[in-house]
Amino acid sequence: MFNQALASSVPIQGTAVAARWDGLYDFLLGISAFFFLLVVGAMLYFAITYRHRPEKKTTYFTGSHLLEAIWIAVPTLLLMMIFGWGYSIYHAMTQAPSDAYEVRVVGKQWLWTFQYDNGKTTVNEVYVPMNRPVKLVMTSEDVLHGFYIPNFRIKQDVVPGMYSSLWFTATVPGKHQVFCTEYCGTSHSGMLAKVVVLDDAQWKAWNLNRPIGAVPDVGLEGVAEASVAQSAPAAGSLADQGKAVYEKKGCVACHSVDGTTKVGPTHKGLFGSKVELTDGRTVIADENYIRNHIENPQANTVKGFNPVMPTFKGLISETEMNALIAYIKSLK
Ligand code: CUA
Repeated sequence: MFNQALASSVPIQGTAVAARWDGLYDFLLGISAFFFLLVVGAMLYFAITYRHRPEKKTTYFTGSHLLEAIWIAVPTLLLMMIFGWGYSIYHAMTQAPSDAYEVRVVGKQWLWTFQYDNGKTTVNEVYVPMNRPVKLVMTSEDVLHGFYIPNFRIKQDVVPGMYSSLWFTATVPGKHQVFCTEYCGTSHSGMLAKVVVLDDAQWKAWNLNRPIGAVPDVGLEGVAEASVAQSAPAAGSLADQGKAVYEKKGCVACHSVDGTTKVGPTHKGLFGSKVELTDGRTVIADENYIRNHIENPQANTVKGFNPVMPTFKGLISETEMNALIAYIKSLK
């Protein structure tokens, strides 16, 4: 009955994790209703049965250990169960499989830019394959934004100066609404986007720059359309674009891509490796480390090298940074 009454107000389930969240919330709603009826029902019953009557005297009570044990044990077990249930979904939701298809996301007042490995860039619509894990690696050019896909039941803050991520396996083809969920200025409510989930044939076509046909909206009717821009066919892959940035910004002067050591360490095999720093830290060279190193090199000097690298903070745009990292990632 609850499910039927709520069906029109709860978004469709576009991922497996959405069904799991809804199961947990149905349970929370169910036990809330159960205890509400139990407590209020007992209250009304006692108020009527034991109401004041001049001829009746109240019995003397000294308490009940059994009753106390029950009202400690039952809520404790229920809360532990809710914690375990929620944690297991949260864990599944935050640990992206390593073979996920990656898309780079840049938020800025008030639109979203998406960069793909094949070099394409789209604005306000992100194209993803159906039934395949997809990971969004996200950052912001200005202020805090939030990337929220109600149909998928996932949401993540998008923070300037670092990368955060979201992942999902979309199971329903079509366009799914995205909302910005951090107040980011005048047009915050207009910072809309769509996740366009394509079936196998459409995904192939999209990657070959062929028409994909009409893709219908899924759920959440009545939301204003975001303006959408799509780039011209890609000028080389994202890594190729990153190679151009790498050369233009002069990285090549001090770093090699073939394993030889110059003034700075080589970038061959860097991504995902363990790096020892002069201050004793050992870090994994992921997106956040590489970005942090480019912006604050002095604080991240690699062991065995001199702190001579200048900062590139403010000199590389977010989309260039994404391309640059894709290039460094490709240097296996
Ligand atoms: Cu971007 Cu609110």
